[in-house]
Amino acid sequence: MAFLIVGMLIVGKYLHQLEPTDPLRFELTQWHKTFGILILFLAVGRLLWRLTHKSPSHPANAPKWEHVLANISHFALYALMFIAPITGWMLVSVSTLNIDTLLFNVIPWPHLPWLPDLADRESAESLIHEMHEMATGVLIIILLLHIAGALKHHFVDKDTVLTRMSPNKEAGTGKTMFTLFAVLGLGIAGAVIAYAQLSTPTVSLKAGNSAVSAVASIMGEATEISFPESTVTASIDPSDLPSSSLSATVETASVTSTNLQVQGPLPDADWFDSATHPQATFISDDITGAADGSYLVTGTLSIKGIDQKQTFTLSIQDTDGNKKASGEFTIDRSAYQLGLESQPNDDYVSNDVVIAFEFSLSE
Ligand code: HEM
Repeated sequence: MAFLIVGMLIVGKYLHQLEPTDPLRFELTQWHKTFGILILFLAVGRLLWRLTHKSPSHPANAPKWEHVLANISHFALYALMFIAPITGWMLVSVSTLNIDTLLFNVIPWPHLPWLPDLADRESAESLIHEMHEMATGVLIIILLLHIAGALKHHFVDKDTVLTRMSPNKEAGTGKTMFTLFAVLGLGIAGAVIAYAQLSTPTVSLKAGNSAVSAVASIMGEATEISFPESTVTASIDPSDLPSSSLSATVETASVTSTNLQVQGPLPDADWFDSATHPQATFISDDITGAADGSYLVTGTLSIKGIDQKQTFTLSIQDTDGNKKASGEFTIDRSAYQLGLESQPNDDYVSNDVVIAFEFSLSE
C-alpha cells in the first residue's frame, strides 16, 4: 500500500500539470482512478484487520509526546487512506467531462449518487478538486513525518520499531500470511491486466485524405468555398471512445472558390487573415457513440485565434471496405469576426456558414 500510495501521489501531481488535451493525461488519469479505487478496497481490508488485531505497543523508553504524535499520525494515515480515494471518486463523479471509470480497462465502476445531478457542477467540481488536492497534500506531510519517525527510531534510538514491520523468523504465521497475500495480490493483478489486454480490441481507425469546404449564402445563393490544404488526424476506437480523438488543420491561405469575386478577399485581414493566422484548427475533446453507428463529436474550432465549441455528427460510410467519414456543422461567422468590416450584417452574406468535411479512414 505504501508503494501504491507514493506512486499515486507522484502520478497525481504529474498528470495534473499536463495539458488538458494531452492524451497521456487521459491515459494516466484512467490508471490513477483504477489504483485509487484499489487502495480504497485495500484500506477497508486494512482497517478491518487493524480493528480485530492488537497492534504492537509503543517502545517503553520513548517519551509520552512521541506516543501521542505516533497515535495522531497513525489515525491521520488511516483517515487519509479513505479521504484521498473518496474525494477522488467524488471528483470524477461530479466532473463536467463525465467520463466513465473502467477499472483496469475492464470493470465498470459507478459514479457516486447525487453528484452528477448537481445544478452547478462546475463550481462543485473545483471545490472537490481542492478537497482532493488538500487531502493528498496533508497525506504527503503525514507520510514524511511517518517516515522521519521510523528512521529516527532506527538510526537515533536504535530500537526495533522499523525492523519489526518486516515478517521475521519468530513470527512464522505473519510471514506465511504476507507471502500468501503477496502471491494472491500479484496473481489477481496479473490476471486482470492480461484480461484487460486481451479483451480490449485494438482496431483503431486512422484518418487519410481530407477535404474541407464551407457554404455561405451570398445574396441568397449558396456559394461554396473550399480549402484544398487540410490535414485530419483521427484515432477512433469504437470500443474505447474516451481515448479516441479527432483533430483537423486547415491552411487558410489555400482557400478557393468557383466565384472568383468571393475568393479574392478571403485571405485578407477582414476575412481569414491568413498572414497572421495561417491555420484554422479543430481539436475534439469528447467523442460519444450514437445509436445509428455514427459519433457525436464535441471540440474547439479555432479560427483567427478565436476559440468556439462546436458539436457535430460524424458519419462513417463503408463502401466495399473503404471507409469514409463525413460531417457538417454550422458556424456563426460573426463569432469568428469573419468579414465584419466589409459585411457587418447578413444583408448580403449570411452569418450562418455551413462547414462540411470528409476524410478517409483505414485500420
Ligand atoms: C490514495 C489514493 C489517491 C491519491 C494519493 C491521489 C493523489 C492525487 C494527487 C496528488 C493529485 C493531484 C492533485 C493536484 O495537485 O491538483 C490527484 C488528482 C486527481 N485524482 Fe487522485 N489520488 C487518489 C485517489 C483517486 C481516486 C480513487 C480517483 C478517482 C476515482 C482520483 C481521481 C483524481 C483526479 C480526477 C485528479 C485530477 C487530475 C487532473 O487534474 O486532471 N484520485 N490525485
